[in-house]
Amino acid sequence: MQHPLQQISLARPDDWHLHLRDGAAMAAVVAYSARQFHRAIIMPNLRPPVTTTELALAYHQRILDALPADSDFQPLMTLYLTDTTSADEVRRAQKSGYVHAVKLYPAGATTHSDAGVTDLAKVDDTLTVMAEIGLPLLVHGEMTRADIDVFDREKAFIDNQLAPLLTRHPQLKVVFEHITTADAAQFVHDSGANVAATITPQHLLYNRNAMLVGGMHPHFYCLPVLKRENHRQALIKAATSGNPRFFLGTDSAPHSRSAKESACGCAGIFSAHAAIELYASAFEQAGALDRLEGFASHFGADFYGLPRNKERVTLVKQNWQVPDTLPFADTAGEAPLVPFLAGETLHWKLQP
Ligand code: NCD
Ligand code: ZN
Repeated sequence: MQHPLQQISLARPDDWHLHLRDGAAMAAVVAYSARQFHRAIIMPNLRPPVTTTELALAYHQRILDALPADSDFQPLMTLYLTDTTSADEVRRAQKSGYVHAVKLYPAGATTHSDAGVTDLAKVDDTLTVMAEIGLPLLVHGEMTRADIDVFDREKAFIDNQLAPLLTRHPQLKVVFEHITTADAAQFVHDSGANVAATITPQHLLYNRNAMLVGGMHPHFYCLPVLKRENHRQALIKAATSGNPRFFLGTDSAPHSRSAKESACGCAGIFSAHAAIELYASAFEQAGALDRLEGFASHFGADFYGLPRNKERVTLVKQNWQVPDTLPFADTAGEAPLVPFLAGETLHWKLQP
């Protein structure tokens, strides 16, 4: 008889989609990511957004300054694409050695996306240069037209924006961020080696019932929003398939409790306190723990053309309770942060 695994070892993971915020908020959360991950792709949706190389380098330094003294965490910076991002700017960004991608937020899609792109045609020359120099475009894949149902926005984005974009720029490296549907998993599966996707822990573990049954649960609300169970199953299949074009990106996105538990609650789930443990649970439930290392620690680095981490980490089967709140601060001052699955018992623990 086979005994269930009590311990797993993997190369240290990286997080290919992370929101760290800035100032006191960043200082409150950055250590959670640094404890788990060696590197992370840092989202540029600050206010004002990180639109230039100069701003990205300054933000990079602020992140390093906020890290615990003994940390070797490496922030990999991104630029926020606007209607006016020039070809020269993306060349400069890549030459800096610190900027690893450019992020497309369709205007109005999510938190701090009002400076996003209103029409992809406006940045076509910039995308041509990105394809030439191999700088990846990271996409928030939702079409934001008011008449498109929020549950259909990812599919509409694929059909009306992403597919035509890749027809115009067949060599462009694209990461379809935080995919949430069977349609997106299929699209990436059917695309070439230049197209990959990240998947969050919440979209692997939960469907939309978690957010809407028995009351409205704001701590399960993020964008793109959780979908039906058949979509969750398609994401599990993609993540555990061993296909190197699906890899880890938490989309951990802290908002204070009062910003989440509000008449107009913010989109975003904070998962950095338990990210790798949450993925381990999802892979274990799928009977695919042996596929976790590729997804969490190898495939993202391979896609970005970076070396795989040599250091190893250990996860042990051990129950622990997620705290109800964590200390946090936003622009309004001190404010508790409710971590994902607050108060719940998790079954894997990363060894210090
Ligand atoms: C993110 C945030 O809060 O910055 N929110 C979210 O729901 N995922 C933005 C984003 O990635 O969409
Ligand atoms: Zn995000």
